[in-house]
Amino acid sequence: MKVLVTGGAGFIGSNFILYWIKNHPDDKVVNLDKLTYAGNLENLKEADNIDNYSFIHGDICDTKAVEKAMDGVDMVVHFAAESHVDRSIMEPAPFVMTNVVGTQILLDQALKNNVKRFHHISTDEVYGSLNLNDSNKFNERTNYNPRSPYSASKASSDHLVKSYFVTYGLPITISNCSNNFGPYQFPEKLIPLAITNILEGKRVPVYGDGLYVRDWLYVEDHCRAIDLILQKGKIGETYCIGGLAEDINNLTIIKKIIKIMKANEKLIEFVKDRPGHDRKYSIDWSKIKNELGWSPLHSFDEWVEKTIEWYENNENWWKRVKSGEYQKYYRKQYGNI
Ligand code: NAD
Ligand code: TYD
Repeated sequence: MKVLVTGGAGFIGSNFILYWIKNHPDDKVVNLDKLTYAGNLENLKEADNIDNYSFIHGDICDTKAVEKAMDGVDMVVHFAAESHVDRSIMEPAPFVMTNVVGTQILLDQALKNNVKRFHHISTDEVYGSLNLNDSNKFNERTNYNPRSPYSASKASSDHLVKSYFVTYGLPITISNCSNNFGPYQFPEKLIPLAITNILEGKRVPVYGDGLYVRDWLYVEDHCRAIDLILQKGKIGETYCIGGLAEDINNLTIIKKIIKIMKANEKLIEFVKDRPGHDRKYSIDWSKIKNELGWSPLHSFDEWVEKTIEWYENNENWWKRVKSGEYQKYYRKQYGNI
């Protein structure tokens, strides 16, 4: 089997490649990545001397590059995207280009190449926002209601993927997962930003009142879910994937991290809220549990401790990532905190 992974140098993509070469050593894995600010080949050092792994530096919006990467491919696992909501608010255009146009170009080439599976990685953010007191959860039948340029671009890509199934019979599956965390996550996202700021003795920015709720999924649990969908998922279907954190808000998470790291809550800094900030996401993952037998392996607390440990042990990785280009973004987003 030859698997084309797009965006394999990013956070989830690199975790997925490391997972895949460990669990499916006979498969050939090709990683197509543009290496934006979020792409980092250091994440894939372990794969470097594996014969079955290769890297192509290319853009999914470049038809020629995609055509070349798609050669002989059986399965596409599509992670490549602009993925950060705050950046999509600052500059939506790259989100439309990569997430919408890039996905359409990949779909075209996958169709031409008669791939056996096109798996699209999407987000629960396409479903919009729940109220804090709402006990409903998002599921595969929830109507789309994206509210940020990021989620709108991901929603568009989902629709395109579904349309290629209905119109052309491309064998697709889609997963809409909640917020991931774990090793190799770029420290612009809440959990790695908090951990690395604490390690540097810097303040931790909390947007608005901090009472925003996400459904947290450990990246390795996510990789196992994708594997199951690729092995046993039904063509044309969507699967929602979430974690075990029940309605835990951002402030509680930061306090938990501060406690585990034996730091001081004085590091918490309430900052200006994100425009259009979605109040709550919550995922009903009973379909993938009942049909494919998936569930998360550990609680949020256990996984968060493991994540803190990883960042503590991999200071060189995040220090390099936090230097350079990222500092410009940080100053623009947070000012002088
Ligand atoms: P990331 O930002 O860490 O990595 C994205 C990767 O895609 C990078 O390696 C980047 O270089 C590459 N890339 C960007 N534009 C490209 C282009 N035009 N051509 C080729 N490669 C390009 O993202 P992530 O957090 O790993 O997310 C992966 C996927 O999962 C995305 O589709 C995202 O929407 C989805 N997702 C992420 C989360 C999360 O919590 N991180 C949650 C739900 C869904
Ligand atoms: P983030 O990690 O950006 O993921 P998403 O916006 O895709 O859910 O943010 C997670 C939550 O944390 C979200 O409610 C915004 C909030 N947040 C902060 O309070 N401070 C921060 O510095 C960041 C990056 C996020």
